[in-house]
Amino acid sequence: MNHESDPTRSLKRLFIIIGNKASTGDFNLNDLPSSGGRMDIVCRFIAQSLFISHGIRKDSGAIGVLLGEPDPPRSILVHGGKVRYMSPDERNVAGLIRKALKHRGEEWKETSPGIFTAKKSVNEILSELGDFSIFYLREDGRDIFDLSIGPEEKTVFVMGDHLGVGGDIEELILRKVRGIISVSPLSLQADQCVVLIHNFLDRLERSRNIELD
Ligand SMILES: C[S@@+](CC[C@H](N)C(=O)[O-])C[C@H]1O[C@@H](n2cnc3c(N)ncnc32)[C@H](O)[C@@H]1O
Repeated sequence: MNHESDPTRSLKRLFIIIGNKASTGDFNLNDLPSSGGRMDIVCRFIAQSLFISHGIRKDSGAIGVLLGEPDPPRSILVHGGKVRYMSPDERNVAGLIRKALKHRGEEWKETSPGIFTAKKSVNEILSELGDFSIFYLREDGRDIFDLSIGPEEKTVFVMGDHLGVGGDIEELILRKVRGIISVSPLSLQADQCVVLIHNFLDRLERSRNIELD
C-alpha cells in the first residue's frame, strides 16, 4: 500500500473492534441490533473513539472489522480529522456504514469524506500498521496504568464486541501485539474501554504538556 492510499497515516490513536456478526451487506437502520448483527455496538464504538463534547478528535480513528453475512470480512475506517456529515448518534453512523458497504473493492476506498472501506481482515489491517504499537484488550491483561507510551508513539487498540474475539482470530492478533492490556477490574462494553483509554492517553499527554488534538 502506498502512502497516498493509507488512511491511517496521519492518525496517532486507532481503535479496532471485531464485529463478529455485524452485517457486511444491507441492513435495516431501524433495527441495528438484529438486522445489523449488533451494528449498534460498532456504531457506539466508532462514536466514542472520535467524538468529544462539541468536537471531534482529529488524530483518532476507528475501524470496525465486520464479520457477518453476506460478504465477510469487510472493514470500515472512520478518520476523525477527515470525516464530515457524521454525528454521534448510532443511526447516523450506521447510515454512513451502510453506504460504505455498497462498495466492494479490496483496497481502502473513501466512500464519504473520512469514511473508508476495504475487503480486509483484522490480520491484514494489523500487518499494514507497521508504525503503530498494537495492544490487545482483554480483561486479564496488564493494567493500562503500568504501560509506558512514548510522546510520539502511535497506538492501536484491538477489542471484541459482545461475543469477544474468537480463538483463531485472537491467535493471529497476539502474534502482532506489543501487549495485552486491561482497563478495569470489570468486564466492560468495548465503547466504555475506548473512553477509559482516551482518558489515560489524554492525561498522559497533558502531563507532558502536549497539546491535545
Ligand atoms: C463486552 S466485552 C466481551 C465479553 C464477551 N462475553 C467475552 O467473553 O469476551 C467486549 C470487549 O471489550 C474488551 N474488554 C472488556 N472489558 C475489558 C477490561 N476490563 N479490560 C480490557 N478489555 C476489556 C475485550 O476486548 C472484550 O472482548
